[in-house]
Amino acid sequence: MQVDVLLGLQWGDEGKGKIVDVLCPEYDLIARFQGGPNAGHTLEFDNKKFVLNTIPSGIFNSNTLNLIGNGVVIDPIILKREIDTLADAGYDLLASNNLVISKKAHLILPTHQLLDAASESNMGKSKIGSTLKGIGPTYMDKTGRNGLRIGDIDLPNFKEKYEGLRDKHLRMLGHFGEIPDFQGREEAFFKAIEFLKKIKHVDGEHLVNQYLKEGKKVLAEGAQGTLLDIDYGSYPFVTSSNTTSAGACTGLGISPNKIGKVYGIFKAYCTRVGGGPFPTELDDEVGEELRKQGHEFGATTGRARRTGWIDLPALKYAVMLNGVTDLIMTKADVLDGFDTIKVCTHYEYEGEVIDYMPYDISTISPKPILKEFKGWKQDITSITQTNEIPHSLKEYIDYLEKELEVNITYLSVGPDRKQTIEL
Ligand code: GDP
Ligand code: IMO
Ligand code: MG
Repeated sequence: MQVDVLLGLQWGDEGKGKIVDVLCPEYDLIARFQGGPNAGHTLEFDNKKFVLNTIPSGIFNSNTLNLIGNGVVIDPIILKREIDTLADAGYDLLASNNLVISKKAHLILPTHQLLDAASESNMGKSKIGSTLKGIGPTYMDKTGRNGLRIGDIDLPNFKEKYEGLRDKHLRMLGHFGEIPDFQGREEAFFKAIEFLKKIKHVDGEHLVNQYLKEGKKVLAEGAQGTLLDIDYGSYPFVTSSNTTSAGACTGLGISPNKIGKVYGIFKAYCTRVGGGPFPTELDDEVGEELRKQGHEFGATTGRARRTGWIDLPALKYAVMLNGVTDLIMTKADVLDGFDTIKVCTHYEYEGEVIDYMPYDISTISPKPILKEFKGWKQDITSITQTNEIPHSLKEYIDYLEKELEVNITYLSVGPDRKQTIEL
């Protein structure tokens, strides 16, 4: 058996949570492989809506086990809150036992968040627009070999280890200026740590490989998107993990030859939240209309998302980096009322026409060359069959498939689980 991977091809918020929830009945295990509570994955079904930050999106299917993999960074306070919220809604994970955490997943400390905030405010205008969840500083401690992991919370010297790292952070914070009070958060942190001892801690790499050996099906759930990848994204306006398919190998402990399908998910247009380059961004009423129709406000921070047309050079790059085998297009319904829809086919960059993302898009912005498509001007939110897809939308899909050289296997026409069509 192999591990299928589902990940975002743009700057995040492509609808990963919704689609993992749709696909999870086919799988025995859903495993998050990177990122942390900077993610906000939204699921809607039976008139209920949930936003998950750390918990994999297979959690509502009682037959699916959910693993928070070693590549994930965990804020105990946020994870406890997520588990409490689900319990209030009738999903008691302590009773159902369908969530496990890799012992090797790193912990976000309250001082990691303070460092994140201090670093961002120190950058002034060139700030990244981080979610301020402490992601960057936690991954820095991981690669700096200073981090604390979930497995450490069961050790007798955990408090000592915690204090050592906290005090190091406090010395660093002293260089930025006054240190905000974090006593309340520290107390909440230890309360949450005690709570997390009730969730099973596992050797995730053994668990996943054992599942494969037994012929069980595993889906790796990505967070963020390809263009936020630490190596290949629009650096430095990126997150601090590998959001691409290679991240599933290191983030779960699976070898590259165990990767099966790679589902690449993208919106029928494009959004970005936070700072950094966005060649197809629309700073006009069309962009405003996309934001309004798509409810483009962050699931984690509530910030307004920047909006623009779909960007083929960027998508081709994402397809290449991830080895995408199946495409999934979401939020097509958001374009229902548009007379025309545009696609960026190439960039004009330093006097040349190019079809790839140049190295330095952070300082020299490429100008998008746009191709126009006729809108379908029809409500598609209740269609369920491929033969109901309007002609103009079919043309749009065919064009994207031809350009990206991969088939679109699912089309999402609304936020609800049921609003998904297999093509
Ligand atoms: P994720 O981070 O990739 O899981 O995506 P988010 O949950 O942050 O953002 C996607 C948003 O779009 C959520 O509010 C979803 O409920 C919503 N959504 C997902 N698919 C569709 C769709 O096909 N149409 C519409 N209108 N909304 C969708
Ligand atoms: P999901 O999984 C959209 C963005 C932030 C910021 C940059 C760095 O819901 O798609 P960080 O908090 O990692 O230091 O922020 O990355 N970002 C996201 N944008 N969706 C996400 O996750 C994101 N996670 C981080 O806005 O620009
Ligand atoms: Mg999101």
